[in-house]
Amino acid sequence: MSAASPTPTSLRVALLGGGTVGTEVVRLLTADSSDFSARVGVPIQLSAVAVRDLSKPRPGIPSSLLTDDALAVATSGADIVVEVMGGIEPARSLILAAMAAGSSVVTANKALLAEDGASLYEAARKFGVDLYFEAAVAGAIPLIRPLRESLAGDQVSKVMGIVNGTTNFMLTRMDEDGADYAEVFDEANALGYLESDPTLDVGGHDAAAKAAIIAELAFHTRVTIDDVYCEGITQVTSTDIKAAQDMGFVIKLLAVAERTDAGVIVRVHPAMVPRDHPLASVRLSFNAVFIEAESAGQMMFYGRGAGGAPTASAVLGDLVAAARNRLSGGQGPGESTYLDLPVLGIGEAQTRYYVNLDVADKPGVLASIASAFAENGVSIQVVRQDGHGDEAGLIVRTHKASDQSLRQTIDALSKLDTVRRVLGVMRVEGEPGA
Ligand code: NAP
Ligand code: HSE
Repeated sequence: MSAASPTPTSLRVALLGGGTVGTEVVRLLTADSSDFSARVGVPIQLSAVAVRDLSKPRPGIPSSLLTDDALAVATSGADIVVEVMGGIEPARSLILAAMAAGSSVVTANKALLAEDGASLYEAARKFGVDLYFEAAVAGAIPLIRPLRESLAGDQVSKVMGIVNGTTNFMLTRMDEDGADYAEVFDEANALGYLESDPTLDVGGHDAAAKAAIIAELAFHTRVTIDDVYCEGITQVTSTDIKAAQDMGFVIKLLAVAERTDAGVIVRVHPAMVPRDHPLASVRLSFNAVFIEAESAGQMMFYGRGAGGAPTASAVLGDLVAAARNRLSGGQGPGESTYLDLPVLGIGEAQTRYYVNLDVADKPGVLASIASAFAENGVSIQVVRQDGHGDEAGLIVRTHKASDQSLRQTIDALSKLDTVRRVLGVMRVEGEPGA
């Protein structure tokens, strides 16, 4: 809409998707319609909801709004199209078609944004419409707007967070109740937490998509999911959990995006976090994201990262922003990738490590192990011996080292005849109390 167009007396909103999130968007829009009218300035009318299967019961969505013709909904010329169907296709084509028809788009689709956000930004720019996606990362938690707008005048150096509620639930139960991986997987499944493809959660891919979106906004550099190092929680054992507890740490699946002198590194992996670090107290299915910026310092965002209503809250916040822009003739922020920093591989990442070794209990063991670390440039911070005789175990915590040096150290340790087995290796993140 150009600034010279007459101000609309109402705004039309169409939905692509009427599942977990879409149903809640409809409920909130309908229940609080007079509030939304007051907040936006004109009434908001829901014009259609596209779904795949019209025969499914959908309590809360008026049947007169339902259709299985998603393309017709996308190209209906609604002021705002809300995409909550998920996946890459047909979501991408439908969003592009909606923008070409002049609609602003609000989406919760982390997978699409992390794979091909550039196409969506480009179409939004070309057709002069908005692209908002607060719900795509960390559900209800305001994080995209702070990164895109509130911190636009600062230099973000690091973003570290728990952005997958399912795996945080599983790790919390393993830590607090001594449950094993298989047991907590079944429990998460029974509670409906797992994605329809559970490897997206436990393999770290859901968190990796969110990390890519965060990193692109934080560092003004294009980052896709293929740039993110990704390791899930499937290898976390009760032995690791116990070792972390004994050292005063807790294991979390972290998404870390950091800017170094050489470029940007984005990674998702389990890590040991000191028990007095703010992220350690994030329990069960909650999410939290810790941001460090040059002038603002450290800040943490905490809340519900998933679920219909929390996610719909973020969608509706975006909807109000896009609606206000329609009325004022303004436009929300576009793509900001002007810095175009190099995106580095995991080998460049510098972290501390925990290494758990099953060793022979005989003279000279410690010396041979210390040499393997030293020869590969990895400095040892703490060594702790566990057990006696044949059961001897050695836990080593290192100072910061590159991922590459640590890998070489593990290779060297595996070849020593004093090391029977490498029982566990995990990164250690966060300063105590920081
Ligand atoms: P969902 O429950 O599976 O709902 C998807 C909806 O889209 C369903 O109504 C489905 O129709 C419809 N749909 C799918 N493909 C379609 C097609 N080709 N044509 C027409 N309709 C189609 O998914 P959700 O949990 O609401 O998630 C929606 C989006 O929000 C995803 O991008 C997801 O990643 C994101 N998100 C979800 C959460 C969460 O907690 N659920 C949190 C943050 C972000 P049918 O009902 O007929 O199958
Ligand atoms: N599977 C995701 C999670 C849903 O557990 O956090 C929200 O994106």
